[in-house]
Amino acid sequence: MSDRVAIEREQAELAQRFGPWTAHNIRLAEGVYTISSEPSGDEVKLRRITQIVSDLFDGRIDGLRVLDLACLEGMYALELARRGAEVVAIEGREANLEKARYAARALGLDGIDWRLGDVRDLSREQHGEFDVVLCLGILYHLDAPDVFSLVGRMADVCRRALIVDTAIALSGSEQRAHDGHVYRGTTLFEHDPDSSKEERLKAAWSSLDNTIAWALTRPSLLSLLARSGFTSVYECWIPAEPGKTSGRITLVALRGRPQTEFVSPPPAEDPAAVPERPPVGARLPGTRLWRIGRLVVPPPLRRRVRALLGAETRRPR
Ligand SMILES: C[S@@+](CC[C@H](N)C(=O)[O-])C[C@H]1O[C@@H](n2cnc3c(N)ncnc32)[C@H](O)[C@@H]1O
Repeated sequence: MSDRVAIEREQAELAQRFGPWTAHNIRLAEGVYTISSEPSGDEVKLRRITQIVSDLFDGRIDGLRVLDLACLEGMYALELARRGAEVVAIEGREANLEKARYAARALGLDGIDWRLGDVRDLSREQHGEFDVVLCLGILYHLDAPDVFSLVGRMADVCRRALIVDTAIALSGSEQRAHDGHVYRGTTLFEHDPDSSKEERLKAAWSSLDNTIAWALTRPSLLSLLARSGFTSVYECWIPAEPGKTSGRITLVALRGRPQTEFVSPPPAEDPAAVPERPPVGARLPGTRLWRIGRLVVPPPLRRRVRALLGAETRRPR
């Protein structure tokens, strides 16, 4: 589809049928955008995700097998396919997928495997294995236990890197058990329980059917990733996303080779056990109360208080 007029005509037809584009601002041709020639929001995240993939693979995106889960209007799939990746993209809403397919035609990218489906059905048998799995903006739309199961399924199809961009629970007031471990998180609202199937489908960014979702806290999500087979997990700060709140993070989880032989004795801690809150002794030093205490409490008593609270007794190195 090289003709600009034809591109604009089809875009107008799609907008008429399914409503305007809601998030992914894609440049389809000279002067033709799905949303606007001005930045509309997600451009920053596209740069972050593309840079992470490039950095993880020495700048070579060409030839990578990439899975884009819940691809919405297809921007991430399109960007990586444009750079030579072999992309499979799953999306649960036909309206979103139609827009993504159209953008691919407009850009002349015919190699993307667009699949209408439910990410909860992800499997190696159906979808294969991937160098990169993108789990952007979908984890916190699933309820427990689906959220646990999806992380396991992603680990199963991922041979190198999982990128998770997600909302996290800032207070872990609720808990759920999975595979013998307890995780903390909070319930999020997705749909009015009285809403119809059609009304739920119309909410283009929401869950497909579940009326509530369950968001994990950061430590619980990290532990879940580790227990699902990811050997190390990193949080992305650069490229910066200035608009991101403290309740939203981008993680990179790697499936590496678990290292077992060391020159030191084995540590006592479980490498997957990320504490929900650091012990009080680790949080107190540096606070004003602690600094005043140093001035007024005699050293022997200070040592006893430190030992009782489990605070660091050695000088920082
Ligand atoms: C907040 S949007 C995020 C989309 C995109 N990944 C991004 O980061 O811009 C959530 C997307 O997940 C899709 N979705 C929700 N639940 C799904 C499910 N169970 N299976 C497949 N897609 C789902 C929605 O249709 C929507 O496109």
